[in-house]
Parts: sequence; C-alpha cells; structure tokens
Amino acid sequence: MRRGEKGILAVAALSVVILLGIKYLRNTEGDAVSFDQGVPFYTTASPELKVAGSDIYRQLGCKSCHSLWSVRDLTANVPSPALDGIGSLRDESWLYAYFSAESPQAILPSRLKKKYQMPSYAHLPEQDRKLLAAYMSSLKVEDWYLEDTKKAEFEKLTGKPYPATQVSHEPQNQK
Ligand code: HEC
Repeated sequence: MRRGEKGILAVAALSVVILLGIKYLRNTEGDAVSFDQGVPFYTTASPELKVAGSDIYRQLGCKSCHSLWSVRDLTANVPSPALDGIGSLRDESWLYAYFSAESPQAILPSRLKKKYQMPSYAHLPEQDRKLLAAYMSSLKVEDWYLEDTKKAEFEKLTGKPYPATQVSHEPQNQK
C-alpha cells in the first residue's frame, strides 16, 4: 500500500469514528432512542406516563390505523398518518381538543372514506382523553431530522441550495 492510500484510509476511519460519536451524543439527549436504530423519534414522557399512555393506546386499538414506534397492524390497510413525533407538530391542548371533538374532521378535514377517518373519542372519560393528549404530546422528533427533511425537500423542489437563514426554528404549529 502506498503512503497516499494509507492516508486516505486513516481519514476514512477517523470520519467513521467522528460520525458515530456525533450520533451517540445526539441519542443520549433523548429518552427511548436506541443507538443501533438511529431513529430520530423519542418521548419526553415520565416512565409512568409512558406505561399508562402505551396501555391506553393499545386498549383503544389506535394501532389498527396508526403506526407508532414502527408498530402497526399490517392487516389493516388504512392510510392514516404515523404518530411518531406528533408532539413536535401538535401541542397537548390541541390534542385534547381533537380527542374531545364530536367531529375530529371539523378540526382536521379528511378526504378519506368515513370508515377510515379518525373516530371521535368524545365519549371517553375526561381522564383518558387527558392521558392520551399528554402521552401523544410527549412524542417528539429531533430538530435536525425535521431540518434535514425540509432541506432535502427545498433542494429537490427548487434545485437551489437551502439558504442558511431558513434554519430558524418555527414555533409549534397550532392550527
Ligand atoms: C379508523 C382508523 C383510526 C383509528 C382507530 C384511530 N385513528 Fe387517529 N387518525 C386516523 C386518520 C385517518 C387521521 C387523519 C385525519 C382523518 O382523516 O380523519 C387520524 C388523525 C389522528 C391524529 C392527528 C394527526 C395529525 O396530523 O395531527 C392523532 C393525534 C390521532 N389520529 C391519534 C389517534 C389515537 C391516539 C387513536 C386511538 C385512541 C387513534 N388516532 C385512532 C385514523 C384513525
């Protein structure tokens, strides 16, 4: 092996070490993100909220339509949004209002057939709707993942480099 080649190999090996280090540091900030998956989703929920939230989510059969933590019912083929990171998009009071609405479609319009649409959970005890809202609002996505997605989208659509000024963090969307 020539000297130049050795140098290139050394630089490549060093880059891998640095990248792994960055990945590790990022993941240790968020709870529930496992290092090997490199998933940008995490939850800020306390251990109690995590257990209670996942329990009610399972009992109510949300996973027959939604995917969360890569879990979904593959036999049901419903075109509903994934709920990973939903708490970075909607806050707790928005979610509470959504779950309490007689018609969720009055808040979030739907073009799906009625049987696929988000059902109303207005009939649930207030405590359960609060729990669902608290748990859902704890499901976050890392900022860098959103930024990377926005950047890729911008460059794809415009063919221009993503302007640095757009990297500001927008306030939470509370439609
Ligand atoms: C019958 C399928 C179905 C079930 C069951 C269901 N959902 Fe949905 N959900 C949807 C669909 C579809 C949407 C998108 C809005 C629409 O089309 O009505 C949605 C929207 C949502 C949203 C808003 C997403 C956004 O973009 O803001 C949240 C949060 C949500 N559901 C949580 C839940 C939770 C929690 C449960 C269980 C308690 C649940 N859903 C059960 C189909 C379902």
